[in-house]
Amino acid sequence: MATSFPELNPGPRLLLGPGPSNVHPRVMKAMASPVVGHLDADFVRVMEDIKRLLRIVFQTANEITFPVSGTGSSGMETALMNLVEEGDEVVIAIAGVFGERLADAAGRLGARVHRVEAPWGRIIEAERIEAALKTAAKPKLLAIVHAETSTGAWQPVEALGALAHRYGALFLLDAVTSLGCVPVEIDKWEVDACYSCTQKGISAPPGLAPVTFSERAMAAVRARKTPSRSWYFDLAMIERYWGAERVYHHTAPITMNYALYEALRIIVEEGLETRFRRHRENAAAMQAGLAALGLEPAAQAGHLLPQLAVVKVPPGIDEAAVRAELVRKYNIEIAGGLGPFKGKVWRIGTLGESSRREHVTLALGALETILAGMGVEVARGAALAAAERAWREASAA
Ligand SMILES: Cc1ncc(COP(=O)(O)O)c(C=O)c1O
Repeated sequence: MATSFPELNPGPRLLLGPGPSNVHPRVMKAMASPVVGHLDADFVRVMEDIKRLLRIVFQTANEITFPVSGTGSSGMETALMNLVEEGDEVVIAIAGVFGERLADAAGRLGARVHRVEAPWGRIIEAERIEAALKTAAKPKLLAIVHAETSTGAWQPVEALGALAHRYGALFLLDAVTSLGCVPVEIDKWEVDACYSCTQKGISAPPGLAPVTFSERAMAAVRARKTPSRSWYFDLAMIERYWGAERVYHHTAPITMNYALYEALRIIVEEGLETRFRRHRENAAAMQAGLAALGLEPAAQAGHLLPQLAVVKVPPGIDEAAVRAELVRKYNIEIAGGLGPFKGKVWRIGTLGESSRREHVTLALGALETILAGMGVEVARGAALAAAERAWREASAA
């Protein structure tokens, strides 16, 4: 049996996949702060500030806004475990892995799931969602993914809250890959429940799931016939820890909350509008550069996410070999496809801290060199020229 183990030494990666994204040094520094108790007055102050900062980022006045202790999926479970009871009818829009995950989780709770499906890469049209709300006798919930990470499609959701409410349903939004990159306007869009993560647009390490619940959602939670099936994600209990009572429920991950606090402070200092513009401009440059390399988007034209380009792998190219070369030669991580897109697409993200001009330039240059080395016909220099043009146009606008 081994008696000594090597010191940790992970590579210094440039994270250009769909998450995690690069973490700002200020966030790493915050994580080195002393660990105090989860009911310590200093930590309680941090909790209160995190709630206030999250309300700014979610653009909401919702009182119940806090980070669930767990990754993005724990935010999804918190929403479903509290809003859905056995036998409830729920409408779930599915056009990729994460819509499917919502349907799977709701089904496990005994909900009657009405699936509204679109082919991978397409958005789901509002008319089709409305038809499903009509078909359900008494829909309790409409759930949809804002940024489908498996396809790169940007789902329009602005009008879906009002639509759900017309049919007496609550509106649940997955903002795991959108929060901090593109606008997520909880109050304006009448979103009743929303979950996200820390490791993408917020640019802290993975480990927490910011959530927010409207008054309408909390009324539904309080009107449940049965307690939540989950003890850990029971909002009625968690509310008493994150709210004024401070009743112990579980031991909050102190260090991760420090990280979230600092990452949110950075977002607020930058300003939401400036941050969204940065994502848009760098995405336009990345997309122009990828197009110049002959790489086509997998998602529907007009609905491409600005923080995540999902592009088709050219015929005959071993996509995993390209990713391996990116890591070996340039320390750049991008991701491959999931499910039916496995082996067929690359997912190249510019989320949060990773969305920087120098990162786009390096990634395009590296991809061009690797693809040319593998025999793909690429016009040398065209990708960087196209990216530069996109930035010039953005600064002239
Ligand atoms: C859209 C979407 N929803 C949910 C999740 C689940 O988040 P996590 O992996 O942090 O549990 C992800 C993760 O990538 C995602 O992209």
